Amino acid sequence: MKTMSTISNLALVVAAVGFSSLAFANAPKSSPAAIKEGGPLFATNCASCHGDKGDGKGAAAAGGAMKPADLTTFKSTSQKLFDTITKGKKDTMMPGFDYLAEKDRWAIAFYVESLSKKAKK
Ligand code: HEC
Repeated sequence: MKTMSTISNLALVVAAVGFSSLAFANAPKSSPAAIKEGGPLFATNCASCHGDKGDGKGAAAAGGAMKPADLTTFKSTSQKLFDTITKGKKDTMMPGFDYLAEKDRWAIAFYVESLSKKAKK
């Protein structure tokens, strides 16, 4: 069954390549410059729901039909934030932003991370 094992090896390689492109072995690190870049991107893409300050009180949420997360108290890691920004949150109105450049999604993740760090605990 040489063919079978070649095929399954191939499937493994394809899976591994697909996975590594998602998992980012070399995830970028936060920096003041990246956080600063994330601010306007957050304002454009997220503030309508999550609010200018990220407190979950955006105009689109005013009717009460949805409750976007309060990101000023949301505890997470930049990697998890990046994944949520990329894919959205299942079964909620939180959309995915996989069409934004990877660099921009990281900048937003760092910005959001900085919001909860600033919050008084
Ligand atoms: C259309 C409205 C909308 C937009 C635009 C939006 N969100 Fe959300 N977001 C939501 C809702 C609704 C939830 C779900 C809250 C819940 O858990 O019930 C959510 C949840 C989240 C969460 C928490 C995920 C979790 O695991 O609980 C994060 C982080 C988040 N949003 C970040 C962002 C960022 C960053 C952007 C911009 C790139 C953004 N959102 C844009 C509506 C939105």
